[in-house]
Amino acid sequence: MEKDGLVFAHITEYMRKVRREKDSQLGELERRARNEKYPIAEPETADLLEILCMMKQPKNILEIGTCIGFSSLLMLSAAPNAKITTIERNPVMIPPARENFKKFNAEERITMLEGDAVDILKTLPNDSYDLIFLDAAKGQYPTFYKECQRLLQKNGVIITDNVLFNGMVATGIPDIRRNKTIINRLDEFLNTLEQDTDMKTVILPISDGVTVSYRTDRS
Ligand SMILES: C[S@@+](CC[C@H](N)C(=O)[O-])C[C@H]1O[C@@H](n2cnc3c(N)ncnc32)[C@H](O)[C@@H]1O
Repeated sequence: MEKDGLVFAHITEYMRKVRREKDSQLGELERRARNEKYPIAEPETADLLEILCMMKQPKNILEIGTCIGFSSLLMLSAAPNAKITTIERNPVMIPPARENFKKFNAEERITMLEGDAVDILKTLPNDSYDLIFLDAAKGQYPTFYKECQRLLQKNGVIITDNVLFNGMVATGIPDIRRNKTIINRLDEFLNTLEQDTDMKTVILPISDGVTVSYRTDRS
């Protein structure tokens, strides 16, 4: 049987067939972004993120990797009282993201910081966020995680996308040679996350691999 990334193709096809599409303005943005091939969260990651935000009702969200703002707006629709800080470095993504935040009247709730998250994260104060969505350059996840440990509040949640990189993190075998570094960094990230005694983590083999980590305590 054919696999589509980590999941059998027929399972993905089935899940997407039964999935209820959003008929709202957000659904329209999601469809448009997918049609135009923006790298927004895959449907299963998006649904997980939405449910976790509905359940947790975070007050202060940090997102690393805005793209055109779909996941920021999704999290805001699920947790309308949240304030979101989102970081994006690609000048191609920034204007459409700003435009989308304006269209959704979300400018007061979503602050986009422009630049490299490696530099920006260092400037953010300790213990500021109760939910972090990490969805940016995979090779930088170990660096981002060091900052996230400092930024995440007790009982906070970190959701990280694309952690299994088409399954190559598990096999250790890259499709092309230069992906070896990314595989090694993701492996380092997952080991650090799993061994962090302040956190409880589950690795979910949906989309391209997603982790959900809950900060229990800093003992
Ligand atoms: C997968 S997309 C984010 C998708 C978005 N979270 C969504 O689901 O709608 C990743 C984004 O992260 C940005 N990015 C990657 N590395 C970054 C970094 N070091 N600092 C800031 N942005 C970064 C990319 O430019 C890209 O737009």
